[in-house]
Parts: sequence; C-alpha cells; structure tokens
Amino acid sequence: MDVHSYSRPEQVRLRHLDLDLTVRFDRKVLEGSAVLHFDRLAGDELILDTRGLEIQGVDDAAGFELGGQHPFLGAPLRIRLNGPGPVRVRYTTAPGASGLQWLEPAQTAGKLHPFLYTQSQAIHARSWVPVQDSPGVRVTYTARVATPPGLRAVMGAEMQPDGTFRMEQPVPSYLIALAAGDLACRSIGPRSAVYAEPSMIDAAAREFEDTEAMIAAVEELYGPYRWGRYDLLVLPPSFPFGGMENPRLTFATPTVIAGDKSLVSLVAHELAHSWSGNLVTNATWSDFWLNEGFTVYVERRVLEKIYGRAREEAVLGRRELDREMSGLPERDRVLHVDLDGRDPDDGMTLVPYEKGALMLRTIERAVGRERFDAFLKSYFGHFAFRSITTAEFLEFIRRELPNPVPLDQWIFEPAIPAGADEPHSDAFQRVEAGWPANTSGWTTHEWLHFLRVQKEPDLARLDSEFHLTESGNSEILCQWLQMAVAGWYEPALPKVGEFLCAVGRRKFLKPLYIALMKTAEGQAMARRIYASARAGYHPIAQATLDAIVK
Ligand code: BES
Ligand code: ZN
Repeated sequence: MDVHSYSRPEQVRLRHLDLDLTVRFDRKVLEGSAVLHFDRLAGDELILDTRGLEIQGVDDAAGFELGGQHPFLGAPLRIRLNGPGPVRVRYTTAPGASGLQWLEPAQTAGKLHPFLYTQSQAIHARSWVPVQDSPGVRVTYTARVATPPGLRAVMGAEMQPDGTFRMEQPVPSYLIALAAGDLACRSIGPRSAVYAEPSMIDAAAREFEDTEAMIAAVEELYGPYRWGRYDLLVLPPSFPFGGMENPRLTFATPTVIAGDKSLVSLVAHELAHSWSGNLVTNATWSDFWLNEGFTVYVERRVLEKIYGRAREEAVLGRRELDREMSGLPERDRVLHVDLDGRDPDDGMTLVPYEKGALMLRTIERAVGRERFDAFLKSYFGHFAFRSITTAEFLEFIRRELPNPVPLDQWIFEPAIPAGADEPHSDAFQRVEAGWPANTSGWTTHEWLHFLRVQKEPDLARLDSEFHLTESGNSEILCQWLQMAVAGWYEPALPKVGEFLCAVGRRKFLKPLYIALMKTAEGQAMARRIYASARAGYHPIAQATLDAIVK
C-alpha cells in the first residue's frame, strides 16, 4: 500500500504506455496523449494519478471522472473500462507543472533557445503523464516527442532510428524522464555519451571521461549493467538536484563540472542506482533508504576501486549525518520513515543516504567483504526489475546472512546502534592538525573538512591565503559562503548574491538562505535576492525555499 498514490494496482495494473507529446515552449505545456495498456485483476476501474493535468477526453473507455486536487497528491483519474484493450487519455499539462521546468533562453548557457526538462522523483511524474505514480508499479513505454525545429528531445530510454523512444525494461514512473533544448552529443566511451548545450560539451566530456571505468567497476562487483547504454545529460544550472538516475541517461547539474574531476562521485552515485534503485526499487517512499543507502554504499566502493579515496567521503558523511540528525524529530531519524500525510520530498534527509550506507558498511565489516559482496550480487539478481519493501529486504537478508547486526534497531529505531563502523581518514587527521603549510594536492574533501573544523574561523586570513571567494569548486564555495554569511565577512557577500542567482541546486540554496535568515541584515539580503532569483528556481526548490525565506 502506497500512501502517495490514488491508484489501486491490485485491481487494475498498468503495464505499458505509448506517449505522444508535443513540447509547446510558447505556452509552456506538453500536450498529447497516453495510450495505457493494463492487466485487469479485479473490477473495471483503472485509477491513475494526475496533478494539474487538463483532461480533454478518454477514448475506448466506458467513462471517466477526475477527482478533486490534493495539494501534493494531485487528483485521481478514474476510468471505467469496457474491455481488456488499452484506453487513450488526451491531455495537456499545467504551465506550473511540478515535474517540469521550462527555462527561458536567458537561463541557458547559449542564451538563444528555451529548454525543458522533467524531474519525476518522487511523485511528480503525475504532473506530466497520467500514470499509476507509485514506485511499486513498473511499466514499459514508447514515446514520440515533437519539438520545435533545431531543438532535440532526449529521454531516459532507447532512441530509435526514427527519433522515437522505447523503454523495454519495466521502470517505475519516477524514472520516466524527458528533456528538450539545444543539445550537443559527444561520445565518451563504448556505451556512453554526454549530452549538453554546445558550449559545455567539451568540458563535460573531459570531466566524465572515467565513466566507462566506473561502469566496469560496478559490473565486476555486482554483475552486468542491464540497461544497454549509460549516457549523461548536463542540465542548465537551475536543476534542483546534483543528479538524477534516469535509466540510460543520468541527469546532472553543471555545478559538478569543476575542471578537475573532483566532483565526479556524483556519476558513481547515479550510476550505482542502475543496480540499487532502478533494478531493485523501493516499493514505497518509506523504503527510500533501500534506494539511497545502498547507492551511497556502492558509490563508495566504486570510488575506492578507481581513485582509492572513499574513506574521506564516509567521514564527511558521518559528520553531516550527526549534525542533521540532531535537528530532526525522532520519527525522521529511522530508516523506514512514516510519511503518511506528508510530501515525500519533505522526507528527504541524509538519514536514508548516510545511515543506510553506514548500516551496510557495518554489515560488510561484520561478515567480511567477500561474503557481503556475494550477498549484494545475489540481492540485485534476486530482486532484479522488482520493487520491494523494507520487510522483503529483511526477510531476504535474514535468510542469507543471519544476524549480521541488530537490523531492527538500525532500521526502526532513531539512534545509531552501538558497534557502527567508525570511518577514519589519515588525510583528515593531518587537516585537523592546525594551519596547513601546503595545500597543493588537497582534494575537495580535505578542503571541506578543513573549513568545517574551523572553530572560530579567521575569515580574512582564510580568504587572503586560499582565495576561497574566487573558488571555482561549487562545494567548497558553498561551504565558504555559509561561513562568510555566519561571520558577516563583507568582501564575500556580493558573491553570495551572485551564487544564489546563478545556481538552482537545492542542496546549495537551502543552507545559504538558512544562514542568511539568522540575522536581521541577512534577512533583508535574503529577501532581496530571493525576490529576483525565485522565478529562475525549479518548483521543487521554490517549495523548499518559500518555507525558509519569509
Ligand atoms: N535520486 C536522487 C535524487 C532525488 C531524491 C530526487 C529524491 C528527488 C527525490 C539522486 O540519486 C541523488 O541522491 N542525488 C544527490 C547526489 C548524490 C551524489 C548524493 C543530489 O542530488 O544531491
Ligand atoms: Zn541517489
């Protein structure tokens, strides 16, 4: 039972979609139709999720009814069936659809063409496709997407010679993805290419050149990559996330293109979802830790294999987890979260990511790496192309690896159990030793750690020695600007405004606006910046920030 979907897949279950959509940049809508193929198990009602969709009609059915709109769940579309055959829903999306961002030419790198992209996770697919929008329901699909001349459409699916798309492996709706804009494409490996605006393509291809090595590393650990190609799409800066694991086509923020591959752990992460998440999927958003905790664990195994540098990530992760948990209510410190009555976007904390990964790491240490690798490989094979609950995971691990750690405590209780792995980094210990003599060769992680352990930071000295305000590394810059705001270090403040207007990644925006809102002068600055920047942010980021900047 998924509390975030009106659908009743145990009665009539969606199996396949044929989408036919036209991208209308002038009106900021998608319009077209979805042909829905389903299995009738009981009753004659197919219930779909929609959000803000205008339904023009439903063909080949006995009738339909659109329910009232809920603030984040949207409205059920109840279709009375008259046979086993498919039905066609004709519809238009709302201009403010939560799963779509329509960019003006000025918001792109090229400044000449508009851009559109989707972000369906967690429950936004319903704002652009009428679908059973629960991760427990998987569909195959085809799509025909019409775009204005010169603008290319891409999807997280296989492009056919005729320019249409096909997804042969069944996927949950949150992985249905589309983008359209002025996109160039460059091959970066035997089964990988990057798509980006033409002016970004060279830098993107260089940054992501280790992609094939990463794919090979995960395959060696957990078995074959099951999705054919693995391509990357670099989005304009307003993309609200770091990355999104759309199958065959990871969506990525341009803020990871640092020029020195220092932030490519993001690729390792989104790639890892091709096993943990896309192959074995959380059945409900309460089971989200099955996606993200496993993915962070796998991501670090890949980083370790390729760059030998995963412990630093784990140390930073643990510190940030403790910091965030101390501010969370107990019910949100558990892995299996209760999201009843809540928008799943609000349940997105570091807990599923870092506490989940920490548990897996602790199990690995308890049973030995060899046994744990074999366990994970059989887990991905056993549940491949299925959506599972935390209970199903528990049943499986109890059979395969009896009592490696106190699982119930890890999953259902708020504290970090005793005996948790304690990540340690020698490099970090050196960073903690005092003012550094030589920082050449420092990784992003060393910089972040160095900045975070400053107790009473001498902001002027830090800036004059390390030129932090000029940093081209988005992670370091964001950390530094938070400190600059907290200490009201005036020389860096113009940069805060610039950064907040240039970047839409929620992970960067949120802490900076929170830092600003702590003082009266900061509040004035936050409100001024937000008033001009808000229109350029994604609806998901707007929703988060509306609650902070008041
Ligand atoms: N699937 C998530 C992004 C997501 C989660 C979108 C929940 C909507 C709802 C993605 O894999 C992710 O975790 N991205 C991280 C980057 C990663 C390196 C930790 C992000 O965007 O910061
Ligand atoms: Zn993830």
